[in-house]
Amino acid sequence: MRWWPRSIRWQMLAGLVLLEALSLVLFAALLIRQQTRQVSVHARHRLAYQAASLAQQAREALLRRQPGWMGQSVKMMGNAPDVAIAKVTDPAGNVLFVSEGEPEQTTLDLGERAQIPLVRHEEPRVFTLKGDRWEGVRAIYVDGRLRGFAWVEADRTWDHEQLNAILRGTVIFGVIWIVGSALLVLVMARSISLPLATLHRGTRALMSSPEDSGNFPLPVAVHNEIGDLIEAFNRMVASIAEQRSGLNDTLSLLDSMLANAPIGLAFFDRHCRIVRVNQVFADMTGVPLSRHLGRTLPELLPQPVAQELENTVLRVFAEEEPVRNLELTHPELSGQESKAAAAGLPSRPWTWLASAYPVRTTPRQVRWVGVIVLDASDRKRSEEALRKTEKLAATGRLAASIAHEINNPLEAITNLLFLLRNYCGLEDPALNYVAMAEHEAQRIAEITQQTLRFYRQSTLPARANMGELLDSVLSLYHGRLHALNIQVERDYETAVDLFCFAGEIRQVFANLVGNSIDATSAGGRLLVRARRSRNWKDPAQAGVRFVVADTGAGMEPAVRERVFEAFFTTKEVLGTGLGLWVSHEIIVKHRGLVHVRSRTAAQGKTSGTVFQLFIPDDPNLAAPARQTTAAV
Ligand SMILES: Nc1ncnc2c1ncn2[C@@H]1O[C@H](COP(=O)(O)OP(=O)(O)OP(=O)(O)O)[C@@H](O)[C@H]1O
Ligand SMILES: [Mg+2]
Repeated sequence: MRWWPRSIRWQMLAGLVLLEALSLVLFAALLIRQQTRQVSVHARHRLAYQAASLAQQAREALLRRQPGWMGQSVKMMGNAPDVAIAKVTDPAGNVLFVSEGEPEQTTLDLGERAQIPLVRHEEPRVFTLKGDRWEGVRAIYVDGRLRGFAWVEADRTWDHEQLNAILRGTVIFGVIWIVGSALLVLVMARSISLPLATLHRGTRALMSSPEDSGNFPLPVAVHNEIGDLIEAFNRMVASIAEQRSGLNDTLSLLDSMLANAPIGLAFFDRHCRIVRVNQVFADMTGVPLSRHLGRTLPELLPQPVAQELENTVLRVFAEEEPVRNLELTHPELSGQESKAAAAGLPSRPWTWLASAYPVRTTPRQVRWVGVIVLDASDRKRSEEALRKTEKLAATGRLAASIAHEINNPLEAITNLLFLLRNYCGLEDPALNYVAMAEHEAQRIAEITQQTLRFYRQSTLPARANMGELLDSVLSLYHGRLHALNIQVERDYETAVDLFCFAGEIRQVFANLVGNSIDATSAGGRLLVRARRSRNWKDPAQAGVRFVVADTGAGMEPAVRERVFEAFFTTKEVLGTGLGLWVSHEIIVKHRGLVHVRSRTAAQGKTSGTVFQLFIPDDPNLAAPARQTTAAV
């Protein structure tokens, strides 16, 4: 209904006016109908009475033989306010007397004449004619003989006026009633529509800017049910604002946890698509944070790892139980190196420790699965190094006990060789062989003594002679150096000593010299230098500068950059790739520096590699190193 007003005020008003107008029309119709009926009954009685009265007066005039009185009675009847015309006729219907005009010129019309046979003795007859004419007639009997008829026609104007007056009164009353009640309704509707409009404004303000509390609380101008409603609305808005602020606090807390937790966090939906990740997780995958949303794991991680993690997520969705400490390892495969580098992942092998748990939004519905990922690569490497150190320690212990056990028979051999040399009758060549045997036995004795000495030194830092230490390393490799005919240049003084973990420093040089021998072909050269010096980055710091240089194959820049990474080797099954990594750790532990230069034959005339080390002479060495000072 388009024409129907929208506001409550005008709806109430329109409804009321319509209802009242309808009831007024109905009431007026009923009233007029009833009044019309009553007026017509009265008119009939009146006409019957007036006709009877005129007939009686005419009868009296006839009885007294005074027909002139009849004329006067007709005139008087005609003057009555509710009578239009009065007549007296003879039995044949000829007009004898008439209240207006001349009798001769007045005749009964056909309708009146038709009534004559219907008029009964002593009984007035009231009838109607066309044009709303009401008329009463009565027979005039004198001594039982019909002498004529008395006719009286009503003047309806009076009746109509009476009806009009009633109608006018009803309309005036109705209008006053409608206007009065409309005003009342307007006043009453204001107390509903005004607060409702306030409530409406408040609801719109809440919807358009939920954060803006400037519009609230809404004014409560009325004290009725709507006033109560506005108060309840104000309370609701205040409680929503309170809840929102609590929610914002919680969200900020969660956001900051997500952003700053030192662990990778990722959330997955049922299709294993990422719905949220933190920066640490993005750093771990090597893909920018914004490019994670909506992606699946195979799009971000190498295939086997992605598949395993995805299966775990699906399992948590299915079983609704957390999965803890799942170890994901990405091995360093030469074929995948480039792919991993392209995906932004570290090209070194890595190990992640992942836990997945269900995230419920209702007690019975798992909406997401959260995954916590810890980069356990360092721990793994440390474990590996520890294993290697353990192995080295065990080997050291074994070597020490072997050296110790060798000492007894060696002493016997030395004694026997002494006896043999002094035994008379040995010819010169035999004496020569004995001297050679004594020389070799002397070398065995030196090696066992050095082995025993360094095993004893490895647990605590102490001042050690670097010349002796380097000698011992070179003597370990004596066989290989000799076999490859590598010319060794020893450029160190015996007086150079250093406060250090001598066993570990010896391990560093064993690794460096071992690598040089691996890289150098027959006839090459090896330089080992040790000199008192100062830190090249901090001249105030005194220490020892070492150089291990070879004329070996050298390294490409890509290899040189990665030599200190754990497990990086170019020697395939012959190398573990841990030698330089462990050496680097030892140098860091001694707060030292290391620098590598290398050149392959393709890069210059001569190829070769130079490792330069600076180890500070630091009596406070036992304290743990705070930061890596090694430079590559
Ligand atoms: N003096 C050198 N000349 C040429 N290449 C070298 C030299 N020193 C190290 N490298 C390169 O650095 C790599 C890493 O050396 P590292 O000592 O860490 O491991 P590795 O020698 O391969 O194995 P291992 O654990 O048995 O020592 C070597 O595989 C080699 O390619
Ligand atoms: Mg090595």
